[in-house]
Amino acid sequence: MGLARTKNLSNLLVLLISFSCLEFGCAVDTITALQFIKDPEIKISSGGDFKLGFFSPRNSSYRYVGIWYAKLSESHVVWVANRDRPLKTSSGIRTISEDGNLVVLDEEKKIIWSSNVTNSVSNPSAQLLDSENLVLKENNTGSILRESFQHPSDSLLPNMKMITDTITSKNVQLTSWKRPFDPSVGAFFASIYLFNLPEMFIWNDSKPYWRSGPWNSRIFIGIPTMYSLYLDGFSLVDDKEGTFYFTFDFSNKSCYYIVP
Ligand SMILES: *[C@@H]1O[C@H](CO)[C@@H](O)[C@H](O)[C@H]1NC(C)=O
Ligand SMILES: *[C@@H]1O[C@H](CO)[C@@H](O)[C@H](O)[C@H]1NC(C)=O
Ligand SMILES: *[C@@H]1O[C@H](CO)[C@@H](O)[C@H](O)[C@H]1NC(C)=O
Ligand SMILES: *[C@@H]1O[C@H](CO)[C@@H](O)[C@H](O)[C@H]1NC(C)=O
Ligand SMILES: *[C@@H]1O[C@H](CO)[C@@H](O)[C@H](O)[C@H]1NC(C)=O
Repeated sequence: MGLARTKNLSNLLVLLISFSCLEFGCAVDTITALQFIKDPEIKISSGGDFKLGFFSPRNSSYRYVGIWYAKLSESHVVWVANRDRPLKTSSGIRTISEDGNLVVLDEEKKIIWSSNVTNSVSNPSAQLLDSENLVLKENNTGSILRESFQHPSDSLLPNMKMITDTITSKNVQLTSWKRPFDPSVGAFFASIYLFNLPEMFIWNDSKPYWRSGPWNSRIFIGIPTMYSLYLDGFSLVDDKEGTFYFTFDFSNKSCYYIVP
């Protein structure tokens, strides 16, 4: 009897483990307070297109939490969390904190980066989608608390919305890396700006550095290469309530755009 019970107990343990996997998704693409990642672990989006984890830029020992193309090399990092606060050691942790935020912790478990969502909720989880979007959501309702698509780094990815709200003056902007191997926030940033017609601007600090020319309902007229590209993918949407966004989606997923 005792033996059988032990055996049953181990079966029960196996069952419990697989149940808790079901419950927590056991997903390779999800972070929860219990399913955190520790350097050098990674998460992979469900379709295998993007990886989330720790990386060091070339010739650097600093560690950053980022998202990169899984099928290209680590040098194609498209999003970085702790841009201005690199980890000095390989003991970083990416997890959900007690207040429900997605955080990066250093080796002393001090928070060095936080998603800063104010209205904290119980049981949130963060999922890396196959679009590259990293969404922090409330577990029960699935409502989205924060998404990396609204806080991009230097890369504009398919289906990301470069939003400009002319009423609140809030916008989604891309910001350059400081140097090719230094992801800290650089001087250049890009966003959609409205003169008479919306256009894309790149600023060098406060000075305009480049402009796309107005959107003519199909393309930005100042970008010669836009004439030759397959054009169906681009759109600039005006919701007529003061908000504009630029977005694109290539039919060929192996194409991508990176703003300098
Ligand atoms: C990286 O270091 C190597 C040798 O230490 C050097 O040859 C190379 O120029 C460096 N690359 C960059 C981008 O600094
Ligand atoms: C979160 O808030 C802190 C303190 O205000 C700030 O330093 C940090 O940059 C914020 N993080 C993000 C990702 O906005
Ligand atoms: C997520 O929500 C489900 C019900 O919607 C619940 O059963 C489960 O325990 C929750 N997971 C966590 C990690 O809280
Ligand atoms: C950006 O602005 C800085 C300071 O005004 C200037 O030194 C630098 O040359 C500018 N960069 C480019 C690429 O124009
Ligand atoms: C997509 O683009 C890649 C690289 O430019 C090319 O090799 C491939 O054939 C394209 N695929 C389609 C379906 O057009």
